[in-house]
Amino acid sequence: MSISRTTPGPVRQDDVTVWDPLIRVGHWLLVIAFATSYLSGEEEAGGPDQLHVISGYVLGAVLIVRIVWGFVGSEHARFRDFVYGPVGSARYLFNLARGRSRRYLGHSPAGGLMVLALLACLTGTVATGLVAYGELGHGPLAGMVATRPPAAPPNGHNAGSPEGAGSPESAGGEAESLAAELHGTLANVTLGLIVLHLLGVAGASLAHRENLVAAMIHGRKRRDRDGH
Ligand code: HEM
Repeated sequence: MSISRTTPGPVRQDDVTVWDPLIRVGHWLLVIAFATSYLSGEEEAGGPDQLHVISGYVLGAVLIVRIVWGFVGSEHARFRDFVYGPVGSARYLFNLARGRSRRYLGHSPAGGLMVLALLACLTGTVATGLVAYGELGHGPLAGMVATRPPAAPPNGHNAGSPEGAGSPESAGGEAESLAAELHGTLANVTLGLIVLHLLGVAGASLAHRENLVAAMIHGRKRRDRDGH
């Protein structure tokens, strides 16, 4: 765990590589894949858009690699570098609220909590998406979960089918499965976390007078004079 004092004044600034290439490429792939999945998530008659499915698979692959990297990766990629427990995180947030947050080379305790929350919600979103897709008879879980007919669109294209005629579904479409409902909810919770994530990145960048977005691109941060 690397900690350094908050020293807003000019200190000797030699750079140190904090984010390895896998973290950086993985991060921006997550951004692209999540945006693509979210924007193509509107269910069509017969199942999800192919773009939604493919970007969901990309998200899943990036998440698996990132989680494994959290155990075997570079110093600041490892979970043990940024998981501080409730007391450490609460102390950090308390100091942050008083404008006295310390600067961390890797993720701060609050940043670390957000990383865990984002990874957990993204994993839940992908997992429930796989189950919902399996229920439609597609994807790696097809045949392993009970099959359901695709949800009809709200204008009720299935209403003319023999099963749909006169049934409650014919008015509003087949009810979503629990997995599909959870999938949508988790995607929206993730979006909320992303908004907080961006506010946190902007706040920490301002508080410590450094460009954290640039650091996530080139991987480097300044090392303070005391070596942290
Ligand atoms: C354009 C939008 C985004 C920007 C500018 C951005 C920026 C950043 C920055 C600067 C960090 C490092 C924070 C630190 O120094 O502690 C970070 C970490 C992270 N961000 Fe984002 N982020 C964006 C969108 C997203 C999205 C959409 C997701 C999820 C889908 C996401 C997930 C993460 C994760 C998981 C980390 C931890 C990186 C790691 O340790 O692997 N970010 N982000």
